[in-house]
Amino acid sequence: MPPGFDALQRQHLDALESAYAEVLARHQLDGVLLYSGHPRRHFADDQEANFAAFGHFQHWTGQAGLARSWLLICPGQVSRLKVHAPRDFWHLPARLPDEAWVGRFEIILSDDDAPPVLPKGRFAVLGDVSQACLDDVSVVYQPEALQADLDELRVRKSEYEVACLREANRCAMTGHHAARQAFLAGDSELDIQLAYLGASRQREAALPYSSIVGVNTHGGVLHYQHYDTAPPETCHSLLMDAGQRYRGYCADITRTWSGPDADPAFRPLVNGVRALQKQLVAALRPGISFIDLHQQMHDGLTELLVEQGVITCSVVHAQASGLTRAFCPHGLGHLLGLQVHDVAGRRSADGLPLLPPSADPALRLTRELEAGMVVTIEPGVYIIPQLIEPYRDSGDIDASVVQRLACHGGIRIEDNVLVTRQGPDNLTSTTTETE
Ligand code: GLY
Ligand code: MN
Ligand code: MN
Repeated sequence: MPPGFDALQRQHLDALESAYAEVLARHQLDGVLLYSGHPRRHFADDQEANFAAFGHFQHWTGQAGLARSWLLICPGQVSRLKVHAPRDFWHLPARLPDEAWVGRFEIILSDDDAPPVLPKGRFAVLGDVSQACLDDVSVVYQPEALQADLDELRVRKSEYEVACLREANRCAMTGHHAARQAFLAGDSELDIQLAYLGASRQREAALPYSSIVGVNTHGGVLHYQHYDTAPPETCHSLLMDAGQRYRGYCADITRTWSGPDADPAFRPLVNGVRALQKQLVAALRPGISFIDLHQQMHDGLTELLVEQGVITCSVVHAQASGLTRAFCPHGLGHLLGLQVHDVAGRRSADGLPLLPPSADPALRLTRELEAGMVVTIEPGVYIIPQLIEPYRDSGDIDASVVQRLACHGGIRIEDNVLVTRQGPDNLTSTTTETE
């Protein structure tokens, strides 16, 4: 464990207790019961899907894997955690970590997963739970306004949360370095993924999201979900988007590498996206609109694609027509925390919806930046035939350059950055990375 984590976690919990007390008083509640959730069974089967606990449950415990457990928060009283830990010779019962939070909760290890009996008062229940579970008229189920207010508590990270995110990044980067070596050695997508998991010391089910391991054209499939088991015959490129959890907190990192068979047009494009990504990171500070920064990404991509001869019309014309949306259909980034796409990215601090611009429906963060937010910055350029096809005969792109780039799929560079009043604090190690 990195030094100082226990003290930071205590401070985090102190602040969380005060914040919950204020929110619950505002909602005229005596407490809130948070259910961690449970894995889903495959239909007509006895096998279960991977599981991640409810984010608000994790906000207190950091336990992404603790299923069927209940946490009761009543301001002014010791919080109570009922852990589902049946004595069962098929499985190892749930274990609790050696962390500061364990000492300040009243913890019951239970054979059953039923909700705890609630004291007298008015309580809300949040989590993946059916109303039938707690048949009590004094219980309010899933009140949206409460959930929105608790979501807001996760938007600005505590010092403890930042330390966890930094550690998740450090561990994930060991995996990325190993993945790059595996790619350069000519390994298959599956072997690159195994190298990533091995070096970052994690099992696949514990990842915060399924790794995207796109060799060659697969890098252009935004959420590419397979792992080829055969090594590629030619090595043009690798786009690897892979993360890690530390005490629940997620790293979300993408790297793109050229291979020995890369076209000479590809490497400068990778370097250009990397340079643009650094510029966008450097621009992060409180008060900036993320929508404006997203537009800056498109402006930068336009300049890069014109400079590299991919776009043949003028910068002004390309900007006016929004042409780069065909090369980068996703958003610049999103909030990051206990969920890889963390909560409340499209709401103002007082709960009003903030819709993305109509040209950017995939943008997940539409707020103004504030100190304490952790965001991803992930510009990309992809050759996605479905999106580029309408421009083929427009005279605005060089179809032969696009054709040469197509076998490389795409480029994305993604780091995780803390916004501070003093400037950006990049949590992803970026030293000595050049093509
Ligand atoms: N890994 C998912 C994302 O970058 O948003
Ligand atoms: Mn991301
Ligand atoms: Mn990602």
